[in-house]
Amino acid sequence: MAVDLLLGLQWGDEGKGKIVDVLTSKYNIIARFQGGPNAGHTLVFNGMKHVLHTIPSGIFHKNATNLVGNGVVIDPVVFKDELDKLSTHGIDYKKTLLISRKAHLILPTHRLLDAASEASKGKAKIGSTLKGIGPTYMDKTGRNGIRVGDLELENWKDKYRKLANKHQAMIDFYNVDLQYNLEALEAKFFEAVKTLTSLRFIDSEEYLHSAQKAQKSVLAEGAQGSLLDIDFGTYPFVTSSNTTAAGACTGLGVAPNTIKEVFGIFKAYTTRVGSGPFPTELFDVNGETMARVGHEFGATTGRPRRCGWLDLVALRYACQVNGVTQLMMMKADVLSGFKTLKICTSYIYKGKEINHLPYNIEAENLKPVYTEFMGWSEDLTKMENASTLPETLMTYISFLEKELQIPIKIVSVGPDRKQTIFR
Ligand code: GDP
Ligand code: IMO
Ligand code: MG
Repeated sequence: MAVDLLLGLQWGDEGKGKIVDVLTSKYNIIARFQGGPNAGHTLVFNGMKHVLHTIPSGIFHKNATNLVGNGVVIDPVVFKDELDKLSTHGIDYKKTLLISRKAHLILPTHRLLDAASEASKGKAKIGSTLKGIGPTYMDKTGRNGIRVGDLELENWKDKYRKLANKHQAMIDFYNVDLQYNLEALEAKFFEAVKTLTSLRFIDSEEYLHSAQKAQKSVLAEGAQGSLLDIDFGTYPFVTSSNTTAAGACTGLGVAPNTIKEVFGIFKAYTTRVGSGPFPTELFDVNGETMARVGHEFGATTGRPRRCGWLDLVALRYACQVNGVTQLMMMKADVLSGFKTLKICTSYIYKGKEINHLPYNIEAENLKPVYTEFMGWSEDLTKMENASTLPETLMTYISFLEKELQIPIKIVSVGPDRKQTIFR
């Protein structure tokens, strides 16, 4: 049986959590393949809002198995908080949640190193979520990391101490003003590790292989977005994992030729949280309206998200890198009431018009060229059927489909599970 992928095509926060939850009833297994608690995936149903950071977004469905794959980095402290919240909602996660032995652990000193690195960069900081993501993936590729499976070994604390000591020396080297109490952080960490070890650790690549052979269906859930990919994103203002389709192969151990649908998810406009280039960013009342109506605040850090028009050049690039087969357009409701809308259809780069994302996309090199569209004023949030969508919205959708040559299969018109229109 094939694996389907769902991933973000912009700078994250496209609405991945919502759609994974909506699609979960069609799958046996939901598997996160990269990232960690830098992610914040929001689900809204029955009048409640839930934010997941490391746990896959299928967790509220009894019949689905949720797997945290080898490509994910886990902070036991954040993980425990997530589990505690699930318990208050009566979710019996012990039955449905599995963790790859090969997933790496975020240590308290990884978080401190993240903070020290950012502080040392001053104005050039990445705008990291300070969850320790960069330093943990550095230890993974540097072959020094501690993995979930190590927690089953007797001497894992020796390994921990050696690595934490090294981190302390590195933190000192940064020579920045960082206030912390490592003893208190470690006490919390070791307590949370106890909770983590009460869950089922598995050899997940083997598990997925057997599941596929047994005709089980798998939906791989991405975190972040394609423009935050360590290779293909706006480096160095990116995260430290491959957020694009290839990341699902390395982050789960599924073979590329078993991947079927690639669901690419994007907002009807664009947002970005943290530093880095953003060609279509708005600094006017239009941007403010998107932020206000769309409640554009980070689900993990609460930081305001920067807002701008939809960037078709960047979207096309993301579709190519991922091999997107179906598109999902989110937050169409947020654009209701704009008299006119703009889509960036090319860039002026060093005086020439281009249709691709160049190496340098800083504002001084690149100016967006826009195509204007008529807006719509109808309230979309109660619409349930594609046939009721306003004509001007349909023109906006058809234009994107024609340009990208990929169908937009879902139009999302509100945060709730039910505010999802299938086409
Ligand atoms: P993720 O990281 O991709 O899962 O996305 P986030 O949860 O960080 O951010 C998406 C935000 O938009 C959340 O607050 C969602 O509840 C909300 N949301 C998702 N889809 C829609 C939609 O169609 N309309 C509106 N107004 N909000 C939405
Ligand atoms: P979800 O899964 C939006 C951004 C940070 C920062 C950069 C690097 O909810 O879409 P990191 O902590 O990874 O070292 O930060 O990446 N970032 C996200 N932005 N959504 C996310 O996840 C993000 N995860 C990281 O703001 O600019
Ligand atoms: Mg998010």
